[in-house]
Amino acid sequence: MTYDEIIKSLKEDPLEELLKRADKIRREYVGEEVHLRGIIEFSNYCVNNCLYCGLRRDNHRLKRYRMKPQEIINLARNLIKQGVKTIVLQSGDDLAYKRDDITEIVKAIKQEGEVAITLSLGERPFSDYETWRQAGADRYLMKHETVNPELYAQLHPGKTFEGRLRHIVFLKELGYEIGVGNIVGLPGQSFEDLAGDILFIKEIEADMAGIGPFIPQENTPLADKPSGSVELTLRVLALVRIVAKTPHLPATTALATLGGEDAQLKALRGGANVIMPNFTPEEFSRNYKIYDGKTKVTFSRAKELIKKAGRKIGQDIGGSLRCRTHPKL
Ligand code: 5AD
Repeated sequence: MTYDEIIKSLKEDPLEELLKRADKIRREYVGEEVHLRGIIEFSNYCVNNCLYCGLRRDNHRLKRYRMKPQEIINLARNLIKQGVKTIVLQSGDDLAYKRDDITEIVKAIKQEGEVAITLSLGERPFSDYETWRQAGADRYLMKHETVNPELYAQLHPGKTFEGRLRHIVFLKELGYEIGVGNIVGLPGQSFEDLAGDILFIKEIEADMAGIGPFIPQENTPLADKPSGSVELTLRVLALVRIVAKTPHLPATTALATLGGEDAQLKALRGGANVIMPNFTPEEFSRNYKIYDGKTKVTFSRAKELIKKAGRKIGQDIGGSLRCRTHPKL
């Protein structure tokens, strides 16, 4: 699809029709399996000040926490015992964990069994990414948030889209499977911007893309802005599947927060093939307040959802499907 066709489709195509088209492509390119990625939100400290995010540096109302490396490793061991095949280690941009701390955590977890590790720690010195890759980290999740450079600069004080892109490209060159993704319904965002996001995901050859609606957080400068729409998020998700074909696409927690189980089920029926259950201990997760009302997608809820959608739980680590040969690729 061309840029103009994507814009037209985003605005005009009936939702049901888009979901159906995406579902067909999902079946053809990605199959029936839904992969579970267990997420551990190990720190909510952040050096950045993103206007939309409750973890922003200037939010002094947030109770901050850091899990100790040994706590993280013990929790990861527990996930592996429960059959989780991918562990996502996520935090704010928290430089208190030094390069070697993360290296030790990655090595210790990789010793526990057949498991893929996704890091989602924000922007770090490039040499850190290199060391962690050598230590066994498989994937890196660094959402591009929006491709509109002006909007990007406005929402991320002191940062640029170009800079973000450099990190993503470098991670790719190191052999990480890369996850990108955008927020839908950011204040000031246009349909043109969203079409750009969809084409970006295709062009960067993303292995994964996380797409969720904007949800205001009370202690941020965007507290009074309206939420993004569940329907528009589902449209973007479906179009990413239609345009980019193979990336892993989660039915995101942000989507569940705004639209409940119904929205997650629609996502699974409209292109999504991943769910990211949350394993952060409650004492910490209640303070991982990226946005208001954040739902906790538990392991059991995730498994039930897959059953309800009539799909199968992924049995292996669920690696990138980007290289899978297909006559139409
Ligand atoms: N609404 C929706 N998504 C948000 N994120 C952060 N703040 C918000 C918000 N208010 C997303 C960003 C970030 C991910 C961890 O959460 O995309 O990369």
